[in-house]
Amino acid sequence: AEVKKIAVIAGDGIGPEVVAEAEKVLNKTEELFGYKFETEHGLFGGIAIDEKGTPLPEETLQLCRNADAVLLGAVGGPKWDNNPKELRPETGLLGIRKELGLFSNIRPAVIFDCLMEASTIKPEVLKGTDLIVVRELTGGIYFGEKFRRDSANGQEAVDTCVYNVSEVERIVRQGFEIAQKRRKKLASVDKANVLETSRLWRETVNRIAPEYPDVELEHVLVDNCAMQLLRRPSSFDVIVTENMFGDILSDEAAMLTGSIGMLSSASLGEGSFGLYEPVHGSAPDIAGQGLANPIATILSVALMFRLTFGYEDAADSIERAVKQVLDAGHRTADIAADRTKALSTVQMGEKILQAMTK
Ligand code: NAD
Ligand code: IPM
Ligand code: MN
Repeated sequence: AEVKKIAVIAGDGIGPEVVAEAEKVLNKTEELFGYKFETEHGLFGGIAIDEKGTPLPEETLQLCRNADAVLLGAVGGPKWDNNPKELRPETGLLGIRKELGLFSNIRPAVIFDCLMEASTIKPEVLKGTDLIVVRELTGGIYFGEKFRRDSANGQEAVDTCVYNVSEVERIVRQGFEIAQKRRKKLASVDKANVLETSRLWRETVNRIAPEYPDVELEHVLVDNCAMQLLRRPSSFDVIVTENMFGDILSDEAAMLTGSIGMLSSASLGEGSFGLYEPVHGSAPDIAGQGLANPIATILSVALMFRLTFGYEDAADSIERAVKQVLDAGHRTADIAADRTKALSTVQMGEKILQAMTK
């Protein structure tokens, strides 16, 4: 098989712990299916600040540019929280998304039946929940001008939220197209009752909606959406929204699945290249203790196989293995009813490897 190059940037905190398990899945896939992966590691985030003086060293960016896909862990931690903006791990994360043109962030939230009990929401409400948050990733308030200035009332801070029509149009089209391949329902989430960027967003959605007559469209204001996600999660199919709303709603959606340790993501641009990472962060509170759930990262590898490489068989194998392991009652602490019987990160990784079949 053709050798696929994967840049691996594990980052900080639990990043390296969960990425190590995902790399074992890559190896197992080579054994089972004969695919060939060449992995190369790069420094990224806080560790890159410590070793190279910048969260996104040029060589790491080059490594990603030369790869077919990127596997990312997570970045950040208390050590760097008071650094100036350019020396923050999170600035590296925003930089890599922007530099690689990854404007579309796909975050599926699917409830495994056997994990109903792990969620804080009632099973009868959760039943059948299978949604995708399509989050705009390279615009909005994350990337607009930011500054401080003096005012008559002391220092003030400014974050600007900017979207142009083409940025809105390309992500909304993604939303419609993904919905067309699923249950054909699209919820466009905005705050059009207050924000000018949201009014442009909604106008754009309404202008292009007639091109997707088979998709049932609803506009939902973001505050209401946050509430409806808990009230009627199973009624959502695809949610398309701007950068910050998507960040917040996807963490909320994670709790429908039982844990943020379950949520995978793909960040895509125009071509097949993609960056794959769990939705969760570096979890400094549990880092280095073997407590992290590696499933989000392992499921991100399945997304990589499906969306960048077209390796459906290998993607199915991973997803089947995860389901089988959960059905058998294996749990990491975050999804365990009895934490004293929980598996470690490595043990969960092992169980999934053992369950993978051709
Ligand atoms: P977080 O997602 O790291 O953690 C939130 C809570 O979820 C914590 O209690 C943590 O222990 C738990 N958790 C997260 N992932 C888990 C896993 N795989 N298994 C079990 N439990 C898990 O969010 P936070 O605490 O708000 O942020 C911590 C740091 O991570 C910050 O520096 C933040 O900027 C960064 N962050 C990075 C990314 C990323 O790299 N993509 C995403 C979110 C946050
Ligand atoms: C995420 C994270 C990042 C974001 C932070 C760490 C910059 O929360 O990937 O969801 O807000 O995009
Ligand atoms: Mn987030």
